[in-house]
Amino acid sequence: MTPRLVLLLSSVALSYLAGCGNNPDDRYQLRTDMYTQPSFRHNANPRPPAEGTVQTKGEEIPVRDSLSAAALKNPFTFSRASADTARLLFETYCFPCHGLGAKGDGPVAAKFQTPPDLTTSKEIKAPDGYIYYVIRNGVRIMPPQDENTTQRERWLIISHLRSLQKR
Ligand code: HEC
Repeated sequence: MTPRLVLLLSSVALSYLAGCGNNPDDRYQLRTDMYTQPSFRHNANPRPPAEGTVQTKGEEIPVRDSLSAAALKNPFTFSRASADTARLLFETYCFPCHGLGAKGDGPVAAKFQTPPDLTTSKEIKAPDGYIYYVIRNGVRIMPPQDENTTQRERWLIISHLRSLQKR
C-alpha cells in the first residue's frame, strides 16, 4: 500500500467512527444537525401550547370507553334554526351508510356491512353519551367520525338522530 492509500483509507475509517457516535457532545461528531434538531417524540404534539397559555375553545370531553361515555351530557344549547345544520351534518357524515331515515339503507351499505336500523327501541334507549362515543370513536366495524366532526357537530347529529327516531 502506498502511503497515500493508507492515509485515504484511515481518514475514511476515522470519519465512519466519528459519525457513529450517539453523543452530540462527542468531539469527533462530524455532523450533529440531524441529532440536535428540534424533533419531537413519536406521537407527540408537534406544537405544544406555550407555557401559561389558556385554551379558549374548551377541553374536549374525554371519551375513553363506552361505559363512562354513556354519562356524557350535551353541553350546548341549540336553537330551532340549528335543526337544519343538524340534518345537513347527518346527511353528510352518516347518510352514506345509515341512510336518510337512519334505517341502515344508505348507498354505501350495499357495498359495506349493512349498518343496524338506528330507529329501533334499542337505539332509542341508548344514552346520548353512548352515541357521542360511537360517532367519535367508531364501534366495531364502523369507522370513527372524529376527524370529520367537532364536539358541537356530534351533538347536533345526535339531535337529528333523535328527531328521526320520533318519526
Ligand atoms: C362507513 C359507514 C358508516 C358511517 C359513515 C357511519 N356509520 Fe354508524 N355504523 C356503521 C356500521 C357498519 C355499524 C354497525 C357496526 C357493527 O356492529 O360492527 C354502525 C353502527 C352505528 C350505531 C350503533 C352502535 C351500537 O352499538 O348499537 C350508531 C348509533 C351509529 N352507527 C351512528 C352513526 C352516526 C351518528 C354516524 C354519522 C356521524 C355514523 N354512524 C356513520 C357504519 C357507518
